[in-house]
Amino acid sequence: MAERTCLVVLLAAGEGTRMRSAKPKVLHAVGGRAMVCHAAEATLRAGATRLAVVIGPNATDVAKAVRAVAPDAETFEQYERLGTAHAVLQARAAIAQGADDVMVVFGDTPLLRPETLSRVRIRLADNADVVVLGFETDEPAGYGRLLVKDGQLIAIREERDATDEERQVKFCNAGIMAFRGEHVLDLLDAIGNANAKGEYYLTDAVEVARARGLTVVAEVGEESEFLGVNTRAQLAQCEAVFQDRMRRAALAAGVTLVAPETVTFAHDTVLAADVTVEPHVVFAAGVMVEGGATIRAFSHLEGAVVRAGAIVGPYARLRPGADIGADAHIGNFVEIKAARVETGAKVNHLTYIGDAIIGAKANIGAGTITCNYDGFGKYQTVIGAGAFIGSNSALVAPVSVGAGAIVGAGSVITADVPADALAVTRATQQTVDDAAPRLRAKYKARKDAAKP
Ligand code: UD1
Ligand code: CA
Repeated sequence: MAERTCLVVLLAAGEGTRMRSAKPKVLHAVGGRAMVCHAAEATLRAGATRLAVVIGPNATDVAKAVRAVAPDAETFEQYERLGTAHAVLQARAAIAQGADDVMVVFGDTPLLRPETLSRVRIRLADNADVVVLGFETDEPAGYGRLLVKDGQLIAIREERDATDEERQVKFCNAGIMAFRGEHVLDLLDAIGNANAKGEYYLTDAVEVARARGLTVVAEVGEESEFLGVNTRAQLAQCEAVFQDRMRRAALAAGVTLVAPETVTFAHDTVLAADVTVEPHVVFAAGVMVEGGATIRAFSHLEGAVVRAGAIVGPYARLRPGADIGADAHIGNFVEIKAARVETGAKVNHLTYIGDAIIGAKANIGAGTITCNYDGFGKYQTVIGAGAFIGSNSALVAPVSVGAGAIVGAGSVITADVPADALAVTRATQQTVDDAAPRLRAKYKARKDAAKP
């Protein structure tokens, strides 16, 4: 099968009015990534050799999203939304170039697995002319029904066009259809729009193909994979299925999830074996955690790397560019952005570290702030290995503190501190013996005098 060429036509021109959104439907995210990107990736993994994406007029953001996963994708605009068959025909130029397999995939079906698409391609290789992916469901409302007679798929009936009897059918169209390349244009050009919606339905290809004596088959798949998103409720349902998949995969890969149902993953979260994740942790896009690290409860991570044996949280926030070294500790109410915290360093309490390098085994005291932004530019703070930053210090970047140096608590550091130096900027303390009782007596007298 490997040598068969495969053109995928990805339909992404839906306006998605039922989403009640200003954004194109297919750009709504599942696992932190646009639905259309999930679909595009699945097709590439199933061996698509070319990808033609049909987008709405001026939907450059949709084209851009697809190119992020499939840089070579061609795009075609559908100016009028006249139905799924009409949409596929917008990619006529790509189809006319010829391909052994032509597969139509919807951009609003993000849970599709590459293995399932591969099975469809195997049916084509086995001599089917048209393959439809179907699934059994107890909630068929909204889906096209696959009408089967004597074991033969004879038609697909859209909900609106179905008779009461046909609506009872629970075998539904997943939306994925594949064709032997040489038949596609001929079949689609023959489809009319005499139906309830006045649209050119791709699904009518089944009846047209049968009338021409072609072999039409249904391949059966798992319902959860074909959830099509037309509403926000369906989007939430998709997200739930996606999260469930990610959690199962993490557990199977040797990750400890103390309360799996409370952990949120992104599409690209990578957790190594022997990572422990406590309850209520959110992994936004771009997180990689190495083995033996622990992410404690209520932490939020995005675009971050956590290396072996490090401990993050509880209540920590890692923003893009955070790189937490092996065995480092990031504690509660600490935010790290675009900063490398090297091996064994500790940033344990109430701290902001942004645009910085924290050397190995440095200790950053509670309430330390790297003042990285002056309202115009961003500046770097560099702290050497083994340095000790006293609590409640402000490090005004650009600034560096050398290896082994000590900064006294409450300091505002504006000039570089050399290695092994001690820097303190707070005012000298004054202590007056026995002054506290005198001061209290004075304040009490003042308060008593004011009473009526
Ligand atoms: C479609 C199928 C239905 C199937 C269901 C599975 C048809 C006629 N119906 O119904 O049998 O059970 O999907 O989820 O095919 N699109 C365009 N241009 C158009 C129309 C649609 O690009 O003119 C795109 C949409 O962006 C979407 C996809 O095609 O990604 C499917 O369209 P949608 O309107 O969601 O079809 P359904 O009513 O869900
Ligand atoms: Ca749909």
